[in-house]
Amino acid sequence: MGEHGMEPTMEYDQLIVACDLGTTEFRTLVAAPSNGDGLQILGTGVAEAAGFRDGDFVDVASGTRALARAVRTAESDANVDISGFCYGISGSHLRSVWARGQFQIGPGRRAVTDTDIAAAIERANSIAIPFDHAILATNPVEYSVDGIGGIVDPLDRPGSMLEVNAYLITGSRSVQNSIENAIDRAGYHAAGWRIDVLASALALLTAEEQQQGVVLIDIGGHMTQWVIFRSGRIAGSGMVPWGGAHMTSDLAHGLRSGQSTAEAIKRKDGLVLRSLAHDEVDTDVLFEEDEIDVSPGLIAAILEPRLEEIFRLVNKDMGAAFEPSLLLRGAVITGGGARCEGTADLCEEVLGLPAEVRFDPAGLTVGKSLPEGQWATAVGLAYWAYGADEPIAIEEDNLRERGGVKGIIKSIFKRR
Ligand SMILES: Nc1ncnc2c1ncn2[C@@H]1O[C@H](COP(=O)(O)OP(=O)(O)OP(=O)(O)O)[C@@H](O)[C@H]1O
Ligand SMILES: [Mg+2]
Repeated sequence: MGEHGMEPTMEYDQLIVACDLGTTEFRTLVAAPSNGDGLQILGTGVAEAAGFRDGDFVDVASGTRALARAVRTAESDANVDISGFCYGISGSHLRSVWARGQFQIGPGRRAVTDTDIAAAIERANSIAIPFDHAILATNPVEYSVDGIGGIVDPLDRPGSMLEVNAYLITGSRSVQNSIENAIDRAGYHAAGWRIDVLASALALLTAEEQQQGVVLIDIGGHMTQWVIFRSGRIAGSGMVPWGGAHMTSDLAHGLRSGQSTAEAIKRKDGLVLRSLAHDEVDTDVLFEEDEIDVSPGLIAAILEPRLEEIFRLVNKDMGAAFEPSLLLRGAVITGGGARCEGTADLCEEVLGLPAEVRFDPAGLTVGKSLPEGQWATAVGLAYWAYGADEPIAIEEDNLRERGGVKGIIKSIFKRR
């Protein structure tokens, strides 16, 4: 029992605590199962990220302090004692690779069992990976039995040879050790991890979207992460090292203002599409000595090229995984960097796909409501920690109906 003022700390049978280590903010979410039926939010805590770059703690002392601040704030907000939490992994150290694994079931045919499937996946996991990397996520995408491909779930199908095609995400052991070291020094234990963008997808995308084909683009502070789903399975993921912070820098340069002024202007009047501005702008003013008259057109003239470039770089990074004709549900854009007006339109122009912005995690029915900000990743981490290791079955009808809808979460945690 900890001491948090006069009130005794609350006790719950099971606490779920997740921390989104973002490049701009560390966000901690405390939740508990509600009636065995879903998650209720008990509290949240945010601290400005420090000593943290590209998904790694580059300054242990300041990073640890910021992390401790985010978790302690959540502890007192939820009025609980936290011992450990799950965290998200992101950054340029992540790599992905397709791997095949084969398992000989027998000389004759018999029904494929869970053990056979696990054995085939184990073989796929034994692929050579980069030096000092560990496999952080194994996603079985497709199976074949006796040479017949395209099998979604081979369980109980008769056969003698099972093969799996798996999408593996690997990451640096050094980075992961550094994160767990910071968590440890902050006074907590690392209870598990999940790839950042996969957690966001768990909280934001529906099963139908993943089935019909969708790309999720999370525009954060210093990076933009993406993941593609087709036929209900992952088809690719990656990141580019640019995000909302670069938009702010451009604005500060252009308007010759400080970063914090530029940040405030962006949040209040951020517009990323010149065609949405109703004023005619002469961008020459950017190069003159005179006082600059900040207008929507001018803001858009500065922000549009940067965000357009980010979408182009994402497009390039997606490479062959990006097949527009197979992404019937288009693009879903999230992250703080997607909050400026015109973002979806600009994405549509660059990627040639229908696009929408989405910030609110689906499926939270009871408890406190989330504060303003980017909570999808933390909520996805909490869903995952609660038991959903396979995405997801948020029912389409419930996507925009938040609150009071019972039973959504049950399906979120449905296994295969
Ligand atoms: N209302 C808003 N309007 C415009 N931009 C915003 C708004 N709120 C936040 N941002 C921008 O979002 C960016 C941070 O995004 P986000 O909080 O998703 O990143 P993060 O999760 O900390 O980092 P990452 O996902 O890159 O690890 C900042 O550049 C910030 O300026
Ligand atoms: Mg983020």
